Amino acid sequence: MNVTKVAEGTYLLSVNVDNILFEGLWEIPNGVSLNSYIIKGEKTAIVDGVCGWDGVPESLFALLDELSIAPESIEYLIINHMEPDHSGWIEDFKKINPNFKVLCSKKSAELLEAFYEHTDNVICVKDGDTLDLGNNHVLEFYEIPNVHWPDTIVTFDTLTGTLFSCDAFGSFGRATDSNYDDLLSNEQIDFYEKEAVRYYSNIVAAFSLPVKKAIEKCGGLPIKIIAPGHGIVWRRNPNKIVEDYLRYASYQKGPAKEEITIIWGSMYGMTEKAVQCVIKVLEQEKIRFHVHRVPETSWGTILASAWTSTGIILAMPTYEYKMFPPLAAALEELGKKKVWGRKAFRFGSYGWSGGAQKELDEIMCKHCMNWDFLEPVEFKGNPRDSDLELIENRVRTLVNEVRALINK
Ligand code: FEO
Repeated sequence: MNVTKVAEGTYLLSVNVDNILFEGLWEIPNGVSLNSYIIKGEKTAIVDGVCGWDGVPESLFALLDELSIAPESIEYLIINHMEPDHSGWIEDFKKINPNFKVLCSKKSAELLEAFYEHTDNVICVKDGDTLDLGNNHVLEFYEIPNVHWPDTIVTFDTLTGTLFSCDAFGSFGRATDSNYDDLLSNEQIDFYEKEAVRYYSNIVAAFSLPVKKAIEKCGGLPIKIIAPGHGIVWRRNPNKIVEDYLRYASYQKGPAKEEITIIWGSMYGMTEKAVQCVIKVLEQEKIRFHVHRVPETSWGTILASAWTSTGIILAMPTYEYKMFPPLAAALEELGKKKVWGRKAFRFGSYGWSGGAQKELDEIMCKHCMNWDFLEPVEFKGNPRDSDLELIENRVRTLVNEVRALINK
C-alpha cells in the first residue's frame, strides 16, 4: 500500500490484494493492485475507488491521510467503471462524506443504483464532456463501452496528459513503491508484461473488438501518461502498453506468437506416455511451448498461454464416450473468451470406444472457434510405438504449420 506522485497535482493510491480469486474465479498467483487516483486542483477528485474486500477502505483512508487529504474534502468521485473492484468502497465513503458528487456514464449510474442503491448527486457524462477542477486541471470524459463492462469511460486530464484508463491497459501483479515504468528495470517490465497477458486473457479477452475501438478513439488524445486501474503507470513509454494491448487484441483471431500450448489430462497414464513423447519432440524442434495438465491447472493459467499460442495440442482420454470432462470445461472457457483461429492437434487413449471428436466438434461449433485441426490420433489403451510415431509426425507437422503461419 502506498501513495506516490504521478504528475502535477496527481497522486496514485495503490492497494494490493492477494489470496483471493479475482471476480471470484481467476487465480492471481502474483496478486493484483487496485489503483485509485487523486487529482487536486482547486477542487479535489478521486478517480476510481477500490473494492470493499476486508480492510481495503480503511487502507485507502490511511493513504488519503498520508496526503493530508480529508475524505470530506473530496468533492468528486469519478467512476470510470462500476465493477465493485473500483467502486465497492462507496458505501464506506458515504459514511464519512455524504456530500460528494459522482461522475459516471449513464449505464454506470444504473448499476450504481442496482448494486448500492446510490442515486444522490450523480452526474452522468458522455463523450467529450468536461469537468474543471481549477488550477488548469480540466478533465475530459470518453466512453469506451465493454472495456470491460458496458458502462466504461476513461478520464483524461488535459493539464498533465494523463489518461485514467480503468481496466484498459491494466495488468495483474502486485504494486511496489516504484509502480511506474520509468522506475522499473527491464526484468520488472517483463514481469508486468506477463501479468498483463494474464490479465488481458482472463478479464478483457472476450472484448477484444471494443479494445481496438477504444484505442482508436483515444488515439487522438495527447496522452503523456497512462494510469490504469490495475498494474503499473506508464510515464516513460505509454505507447508500449497501447501497442501491447493492440497485439493482444490481434491474438484473438490468430495467429498469435510462435508458441504451442499443450492442454492434457490422463486417467491411468496411457495418454500421459504420449504427452511425454510430444514434449521431447517440441524440445527437439526448439519451439517455445507451455504444458498444462487438467484439472490441476487453473483456467486462468491455461487461457494466458493459449491466448499467446498459435498452436494448441489437446491430449486426453475419452471419458464415458465423451471428452475428458476437465478438458472439455477448459475448452469451453477458451471458446467463451474467443480464442479463435488456432492450429490444433488432438490425440489420446480410449477404452470402450472413441467419442471425443463429436463433443469437440460441438464445442468448436458452438463458440465459432474455427480451429484448424490435423487428423487426430486415438489409440486403444496403451499407445504402441506405431501410435507414438504417428503422433510425433503430426506434432512436427503442427510445428511447421505454426511457423509457416507466423512467417507468412
Ligand atoms: Fe477492474 Fe472490470 O474491473
